[in-house]
Amino acid sequence: MYKVKTVTPERLPTLLQGMPKAELHIHIEGSLEPELMFTLAKRNGLTVPYPDVETLRNAYVFDNLQEFLDVYHQGTQVLKTEQDFYDMTLAYLQRAKADNVLHTEIFFDTQTHTGHGLSSDVVINGLHRACVDARGQLGISASLILCFLRHLSETEAFEALEQALPHRDKLVGVGLASSELGHPPEKFAKVFAKARSLGFRLVAHAGEEGPPAYIWSALDVLKVERIDHGVQATKDAALVARLVHDKIPLTVCPLSNLKLRVFPNLAQHNLGQMLDSGLLATVNSDDPAYFGGYINENFTATFSKLGLTSTDAYQLAHNSFEASFIDSAARRALQDRLSEFFETFD
Ligand code: HPA
Ligand code: ZN
Repeated sequence: MYKVKTVTPERLPTLLQGMPKAELHIHIEGSLEPELMFTLAKRNGLTVPYPDVETLRNAYVFDNLQEFLDVYHQGTQVLKTEQDFYDMTLAYLQRAKADNVLHTEIFFDTQTHTGHGLSSDVVINGLHRACVDARGQLGISASLILCFLRHLSETEAFEALEQALPHRDKLVGVGLASSELGHPPEKFAKVFAKARSLGFRLVAHAGEEGPPAYIWSALDVLKVERIDHGVQATKDAALVARLVHDKIPLTVCPLSNLKLRVFPNLAQHNLGQMLDSGLLATVNSDDPAYFGGYINENFTATFSKLGLTSTDAYQLAHNSFEASFIDSAARRALQDRLSEFFETFD
C-alpha cells in the first residue's frame, strides 16, 4: 500500500475535508433540507405540519430505522414536479462538491412518489437533469441507483422496474431500501435476477438493523456487488472472511448508525474494526438532512471518536473509488488525484 505521511490530530479535519472522495450511499430524498422543504411546500400550495424550520429540525430524533422512515416519508410529500426533484438533487450535488466529492452514486426510489400520484418519469427526469448539469457546472460525476422498497411486495418492485425501463440509460443500478427487519433480501430474488439480466449493477441494504444472515442472502441470492451498511457483519467471522476474500464493499454511514441507535455512541462504532479486518469499507452520509451531517461530518466525527489516522483516511477514500461503478480509466484518474492530494498535503 501507498505510504501515507503522518498528520497531526489538529490537521486531520483539514485533510479529511480536502481529500478527493466518492459518495456511494446517499438517498436523495434524505438530502432534502428543511429550508428547501418549506420552499417547495409553498411553491406547491402545501403545508408542512411544523411551524418552522427549527421546530422541524428539532423533531429529527429517532429510536430506530422505522421511526426515521415515517418522518422521511412525510417529508417527501412536498415533492411534486420535475423541477422539485431537480432542485433537491442539484442542492445535494453542490453540497457534495463543497466536501470534495468527485463522484457520487445516488439512491432514489420511485415507489414513494408513485404512491403519491406522481409518475416515475417526473422523478427520474428531474434527478437525471441535475446530474447532467452538475457534471458541466460543478465537474462532479453522478449516477443513479433505483431502490426498491422492501416493505412492499416483489410484484410492486417489478412494476417500479418496468416503469423505469424507458430510462434504462439514465440508471446504473438497482438497490433495496426501507424497513429491513422482516423483509429479507430473498423476498426480492426474482426482481434482482431480472435487473441483473438487464445489465443493472446490484446493491442492497443489509445488516443495518438486520442479522448477518441478510448479508449472506444479499450476496448469495440477490448476487449484489456492494452491501449498504453491513455493520452487523462483524458478528459473523465467516461472513467477514467472505467479504474480505471477495472484496465486497460496504457503504458505512456512521452518523446514520448513531441517529438510528445502531450503536449507542460513535466511540463504539465498528468502522475501525472493519478496516483492521481488511474489509473494503467506505464512509457515506445516508440521509444527511436528517442525520446531522454530510459526508465530511461523517468522516470528522468518526475519526475523532475512534482515533483513526491519515492512513485510514487514505484507505477509506481509495476504497470509495475502488467500490464505485465507474470505468477503470476514470477510477485510476480519481485515485491518482487522491495520491497527489496526500503527497502535497502539509
Ligand atoms: N435504511 C433503509 N432505508 C433507507 C434508509 C436507511 O438508512 N434511508 C433511506 N431509506
Ligand atoms: Zn441507506
